[in-house]
Amino acid sequence: MKIEFFRHAISNRDIQNTVKALRGIFLTTGKVTEDFEKKFSEYLGCKYVVGVTSCTGALHLSLEALGIGQGDEVITTPLSFIASSNAIIQAGATPVFVDVEKETGDIDTNLIERAITKKTKAILPVHLYGQMVDMKRIRKIADRYKLKIIEDAAHCIEGERDGIRPGQLSDTACFSFYATKAITSGEGGAIALNNKELFQKLKKMRLHGLERSAYDCYEKKFSHPDMEIFGWKYNMDNIQAAILIGQVSRIEKLWARREEIWQKYEKAFKNIPEISFPRTLAKVKHARHLFTIWVDPSKRDKIRERLQKKRIPTTINYFPPIHLMTFYQKKYGYKPGAFPKAEEISQRTITLPLYPKLKNKEIDFIIKNVLEVVK
Ligand SMILES: Cc1ncc(COP(=O)(O)O)c(C=O)c1O
Repeated sequence: MKIEFFRHAISNRDIQNTVKALRGIFLTTGKVTEDFEKKFSEYLGCKYVVGVTSCTGALHLSLEALGIGQGDEVITTPLSFIASSNAIIQAGATPVFVDVEKETGDIDTNLIERAITKKTKAILPVHLYGQMVDMKRIRKIADRYKLKIIEDAAHCIEGERDGIRPGQLSDTACFSFYATKAITSGEGGAIALNNKELFQKLKKMRLHGLERSAYDCYEKKFSHPDMEIFGWKYNMDNIQAAILIGQVSRIEKLWARREEIWQKYEKAFKNIPEISFPRTLAKVKHARHLFTIWVDPSKRDKIRERLQKKRIPTTINYFPPIHLMTFYQKKYGYKPGAFPKAEEISQRTITLPLYPKLKNKEIDFIIKNVLEVVK
């Protein structure tokens, strides 16, 4: 048996939608993008969505639109994909890392306040693996110190904590539709928010700062669009939107199958002394994006190799933690030991395949082999 690490859930209907978009006049941002944005905002329970080309772009644009840049500090986690903090550097600001919780891998909200300085302008929490950070707590801290909040919700479209969903307590929440995400267009992203002024600004900033898109000028009333503010080229196009739009309707169904697989994994691994895994907290709807096991760090790479030999591909999310990437060590002087909990998880973690198309017999095969190789 050969297991794939990921297989997308794009349906024939999604392909038909995409063909229709390809046969249309506007391949770039247009009506389909607008339809997707509306549908995604309804799903999230947010007023506005801006479709962009990646979550990295969504994070960068959010920081820029909120006026964060040179001389500013943004608090984030070292246990994430480098995009979370690279976007801060891209905006001209400095990422300031705070260690994570041992049980979940999410940023430890108890440690945030002591990292705040006069230069701190924002908090950028990451809902790691799909489990939401305590946004009520982050909101309180942000209010106390007058900080902005930009959520990295690349792992967490379906998540909820204490009745709060991504985008509901922050300035913006940023999503990814990268190839292995819960819904995907290969590459793609979105910003969800509730502030109308910021929404209008972001719509311009995703397209060079122009006040109107080509679609607006063609379909609506033509006039020469002015560039009022500076912007970038991050606009989602109709083709990406067409691939995504049907997936939004199926999002809960896709999640339910991942939940089922997750429960099988937890049941199989919960009493195995060689294995532990992040805990799902009470009052959390976990988005079930990445299922990771934690093993003996001295055996981790060997276990991964042996699984690979059994044709079970895995990934590591994430090694090294961001502060120990060469660039970060050189630029900011970080050394091993700076964030012990993030470093420990980083050394222990292995991500197993988790996607709706995974068959039951494949899940059984993965479980059987994991149990064998960890011993
Ligand atoms: C936590 C996290 N943030 C940001 C990103 C960046 O997403 P994108 O590839 O859409 O830019 C990823 C992508 O894997 C991610 O996992």
